[in-house]
Amino acid sequence: MASSDSSAQSGVLFENPFHIEDLQVFDAETMHNMLACSHAQLSSRLLADSLHNVSPVLITHIMQAIPQEQREQFRQELQQPLSSQEIEQARSQTLNSLFWELIYWKTPDLYEELTVGERLHEGIFQSIQSDLAGKIVLDAGAGSGRASFEYLRYGATRVHAVEPSPGLLRILRKKIIDRGLERSIFPAAGRFNKLPLADHCVDTALSCSAFTALEDQGGESGLLELRRVTRPGGKIIIVWPRTEDHQWLAAHGFQYVSLPIQEEMYVHFRSFESALRCARLFYAHNPDVLHYLQKAQKPEIPFSIIGMNPPRDYFWLAV
Ligand SMILES: C[S@@+](CC[C@H](N)C(=O)[O-])C[C@H]1O[C@@H](n2cnc3c(N)ncnc32)[C@H](O)[C@@H]1O
Repeated sequence: MASSDSSAQSGVLFENPFHIEDLQVFDAETMHNMLACSHAQLSSRLLADSLHNVSPVLITHIMQAIPQEQREQFRQELQQPLSSQEIEQARSQTLNSLFWELIYWKTPDLYEELTVGERLHEGIFQSIQSDLAGKIVLDAGAGSGRASFEYLRYGATRVHAVEPSPGLLRILRKKIIDRGLERSIFPAAGRFNKLPLADHCVDTALSCSAFTALEDQGGESGLLELRRVTRPGGKIIIVWPRTEDHQWLAAHGFQYVSLPIQEEMYVHFRSFESALRCARLFYAHNPDVLHYLQKAQKPEIPFSIIGMNPPRDYFWLAV
């Protein structure tokens, strides 16, 4: 997995653990959405450059995600002569741009390990309790259910947990069965732009650390879908939004709420080994995190060291 001890000792904090053949893990719809998003760092040209000399199985797999009318051009791009260095560069760029999606799809257990430690501020749920208690809610981009279980704990009568990654859905389903919650949380495969729910069927549509302004992670089409499934008089709530999306959300009529904190919020890991593993993989761009852990020798890191806004805010919109 990720960086070995020797790479950390030699000062190299991060190696993307994924291989180009790992792209086989995505289904055609996901790959198609990632390529179609105009903001995405992954262009079809970059992808084609990365796919020189890969297995025919991977080429066939990717071809299914390329729109019919672009396939001929994509085939030609695959034939362009490139040096091995250019291919390596393209692969590394591709794998870095798909890092989080690969984590969700290929190594969902590692994502679960991270989210166990990233606890959401209790005040968020207290503050939105009236939109949860006795309500039917949607958790869109539910992942392995970090927020879904909280919505239930705060009184939701039914949670529809929609998530595209089969691996995260598997973890979520197991947790639901282990906790005997099959009649309360309903997991389903789906995406923001095509929610598997009827019109106006939920009181509150929530998305925690998942909906963004980017089309492949929500955007205009995702917001339309959230509106479609929420009953008039209900709410859409975006929990722990990305800072860069605040303006977009405000421009779309959302109101911002940030909970006050008395003391610094931390990511709490299961063990020191888990903290090191997660730091090397998820926060590798920031050497301060590993240095902090090595000095503190405790399985926790303040969000300020990670350089992330802590999970204590949300945006809401009345439908
Ligand atoms: C940072 S994780 C958050 C997961 C979960 N809500 C939580 O708080 O732990 C982002 C989630 O959004 C999901 N996701 C990515 N693109 C999506 C899309 N287009 N529609 C729905 N979910 C998406 C990912 O698979 C991943 O589970």
